[in-house]
Amino acid sequence: MDVLDAIRAYRPCVQYQSRPVPSEKLKNILAAARLAPSQRNMQPWRFVVVQDDERKRLLAQASNRGKLIAEAPAVIVAFSVEEDIPVTIGGYISAYPLDVAVAVDHLQLAATAEGLGSIWIIEFNEEKVRTVLHVPEGIHPIGIIPIGYPAETNGSAKPPDDGRKSPDEIIAYNEYPW
Ligand SMILES: Cc1cc2nc3c(=O)[nH]c(=O)nc-3n(C[C@H](O)[C@H](O)[C@H](O)COP(=O)(O)O)c2cc1C
Repeated sequence: MDVLDAIRAYRPCVQYQSRPVPSEKLKNILAAARLAPSQRNMQPWRFVVVQDDERKRLLAQASNRGKLIAEAPAVIVAFSVEEDIPVTIGGYISAYPLDVAVAVDHLQLAATAEGLGSIWIIEFNEEKVRTVLHVPEGIHPIGIIPIGYPAETNGSAKPPDDGRKSPDEIIAYNEYPW
């Protein structure tokens, strides 16, 4: 599957089969995240793979999307590492979470190419995630990403551009027209 196919095929996965994710596929997915670009090549991301049922159950309690976290056979938690010299964009947007977002997108597209479903969850209680995974200071969870084979009923019939704004609404040329 090429990257455009993966972009078009991706659907947020909200129902998972229980069959395990083959470790080779998991490795490929994490390898794609590792190759993501980042500002100054800082690579300010870390990933914790959670497959242990009890740990997943505890992690699930940190989110109102806990059912997905508990049911998916694998869960990847993506973290942003605070750097000593913080870089900001326009003086107010921290660059590190952006770098991690790029890596998570790589990860999700690679999962799609591997025939796996995923969804990025940001609705979680940071303190609870920190406690369950023993996260040290200076490291921040950016996303919890359940991964697994999508259930047949996942809603894959929905077209990928469902609900998306039209090109005219979001793209302009030469100047900002709105
Ligand atoms: C950065 C990011 C954070 C998200 N956080 C959540 C979340 O916390 N809970 C959730 O159910 N879905 C979450 N999603 C999934 C989006 O809700 C979903 O992609 C969006 O509704 C579009 O769905 P659609 O592609 O079916 O139209 C997140 C997606 C992104 C990209």
